[in-house]
Amino acid sequence: MIVLVTGGAGYIGSHACRALKNAGYEPVVFDNFENGYRENVKWGPFYEGDIRKPADIDGAMAKFKPDAVMHFAAYAYVGESVQKPEKYYLNNVVGSYNLLDAMQRHQVKKLVFSSSCATYGVPDQVPITESQAQQPVNPYGNTKLIMEMMMRDHSDAGKIDYAALRYFNAAGASVDGEIGEQHVPETHLIPLVLDAASGRRPDVTIYGNDYPTPDGTCIRDYIHVEDLADAHVRALRLLAGGRGHFAFNLGNGRGFSVLEIIAAVEKVTGRKVPYRFGPRRAGDPAILVGDSTLACAKLGWNPQHRQIDDIIFHAWNYHKKVWKLE
Ligand code: UFG
Repeated sequence: MIVLVTGGAGYIGSHACRALKNAGYEPVVFDNFENGYRENVKWGPFYEGDIRKPADIDGAMAKFKPDAVMHFAAYAYVGESVQKPEKYYLNNVVGSYNLLDAMQRHQVKKLVFSSSCATYGVPDQVPITESQAQQPVNPYGNTKLIMEMMMRDHSDAGKIDYAALRYFNAAGASVDGEIGEQHVPETHLIPLVLDAASGRRPDVTIYGNDYPTPDGTCIRDYIHVEDLADAHVRALRLLAGGRGHFAFNLGNGRGFSVLEIIAAVEKVTGRKVPYRFGPRRAGDPAILVGDSTLACAKLGWNPQHRQIDDIIFHAWNYHKKVWKLE
């Protein structure tokens, strides 16, 4: 089975390609290397293209004749999406529309989509279940929700079967250190805290310490990237087994505050993490924790790396490799 993986050279996409290959699928990476890395393409063929260009998607589909698509390609900086919404709507919405359109032209019916807990906005209650209202509070979340709506309408019209996977905070790196997280600019908490631990940056700023949480800092649900990748393969199998559409939360079910992450990094690395408190970052909900019971039941998903220390340990190993520490 051939799977076209948009954004397959990126952080989560490359882990998904590796998991697909290990499960016997042939992943075809479709990427423009804007946020992906050429060295992440090693588990199947590559097609250089941009989802904003329908001819590129047509070219890839005509050449490789995929049986299914995994769609990771997207911009994913919440703050930037507030400043430059047009950039996000063009890539994440128009690009996704182009993909759906091309799938119809090439009779590809199965789609696994990289959605986000950002589609829930500020949740009414935590842990968040899939049935909770989706009310995004930033353009990034809106673009992911619009794609979910487009997929739902196409599925209702009998054109596709899909799984929307709503990730909480993707974190960690492959257990053997082969691939990991490397964003430019980096905005995610764990890599930034590791930078502060290794001296690559002087300190890390904690965005707000007056949230209604036990220590005043934001709480997030960090899920290991290899567990995320595994859920994608399982979602593909579910879709291959019949018709339907699904939405699953993918999280650990346990939240950690920013200060708890810093403490865990200090413990795992044995280094001090200099930090200071700064103002809140716009659009940050106080607590985001996911209930992934449905994914566990329907996909047989059972995350293997639930401990935050393990997630940080793998991220740290990769950090040391990339930055040639020790
Ligand atoms: N944080 C800091 N300092 C930093 C960076 C982050 O205090 O320098 C805090 C944030 O305020 C947040 C937590 O650390 O409370 C995690 O922040 P990240 O930027 O690592 O992740 P987010 O929770 O903002 O983002 C994740 C995904 C997005 C998704 C979003 C949904 O990366 O794709 O969850 O809210 F949209």
